[in-house]
Amino acid sequence: MTPPIRLFDITLPHELQLELEARVLETLRTGAFILGERVAAFERTFAAYSGAAHAVGVASGTDALVLALRALGIGPGDEVIVPALSFYASAEAVLLVGAEPVLVDVDPHTLTLCPEAAAAALTPRTKALLPVHLYGVPADMPALAALAAQHGLKIIEDAAQAVGATLNGQPVGSWGDACCYSFYPTKNLGGAGDGGLVTTPHEAVAARVRLLRVHGTTRPYYHEAVGYTSRLDALQAVVLSAKLPYLEAWNARRRELARRYDAALRALPVRLPRHQGGVYHLYVVRVPERDRVMAALNSAGVEARAYYPHALPDLPPLAGRASGPCLEARRAAAELLALPMHPNLRDDEVDRVVQALGRALLTLSR
Ligand SMILES: Cc1ncc(COP(=O)(O)O)c(C=O)c1O
Repeated sequence: MTPPIRLFDITLPHELQLELEARVLETLRTGAFILGERVAAFERTFAAYSGAAHAVGVASGTDALVLALRALGIGPGDEVIVPALSFYASAEAVLLVGAEPVLVDVDPHTLTLCPEAAAAALTPRTKALLPVHLYGVPADMPALAALAAQHGLKIIEDAAQAVGATLNGQPVGSWGDACCYSFYPTKNLGGAGDGGLVTTPHEAVAARVRLLRVHGTTRPYYHEAVGYTSRLDALQAVVLSAKLPYLEAWNARRRELARRYDAALRALPVRLPRHQGGVYHLYVVRVPERDRVMAALNSAGVEARAYYPHALPDLPPLAGRASGPCLEARRAAAELLALPMHPNLRDDEVDRVVQALGRALLTLSR
């Protein structure tokens, strides 16, 4: 039997795997696990890669959002505009800092925060916009930056799924006051465990995130604020430093695979993703009767997953927090289907996925 086609595959090229093992072993032998030069070196390289003035490594993408929000002074009594379609953590982080996420509908083409809907949801308590570059697709940052400037709002970009993406030639993460990344293992740049990072153009915000990640301290045992234990591990930093030089090539391969999917799927009754400048963290199509199509694909040996099956306002902790009916987000959540996408995917596997999807859609019409 042919092996299933995986949604994600984090197997590394052999030479990189060996290099990584050597670096991890070397770090293990030093016993220098917390912060130190390995983390600082990764922060410097990542800042240069992403065009940011400052980069601060933290324990996860969720913590990156929490610490960035706190560092920007957002807390109880404040409202933050969050798209109604994202991974839960984008809104959860706002709740964790005691602020109120206001869930706003997404653009039907890019599935990212709709600037007009965001403008309509502003109140005197709105303090920030939190656009998500979902699936690696950049949100409409020029329009959102203009809105933020007009109303004196902060911008926290959630680029957990979009490391390396650009918009009009400008990297994501360079439009706002802070940008948050996740290094969850299946992300385009994934660690060997959890990890995250905040970039910011502001020295003071970087300093605050550095303070918050170590219990509110800047010098031993003098605590100035209530913080967290949220450092990027040195072991993760060496893994990420070894992988970062490969990221551009991996993202290029994702784009190539996406073009192959696009060309082959045009003949089928599916809605294709719009990804200008994007990095295809996921290749997500929209199909009728998604759950039936997904089941058919899975039984044909193709891993496909509903990403995400619920719009955020339909999750219990977020109920009642939508600024309107969020119809586009809800419609999308019923139709979205992520197809296999990772740099190890072969062209012939893409062709098999397309054939299986074609057969699944055909059985629907019977
Ligand atoms: C859009 C988005 N935001 C935030 C996160 C949270 O990142 P982490 O899982 O590293 O906490 C993720 C990752 O899963 C994500 O996809």
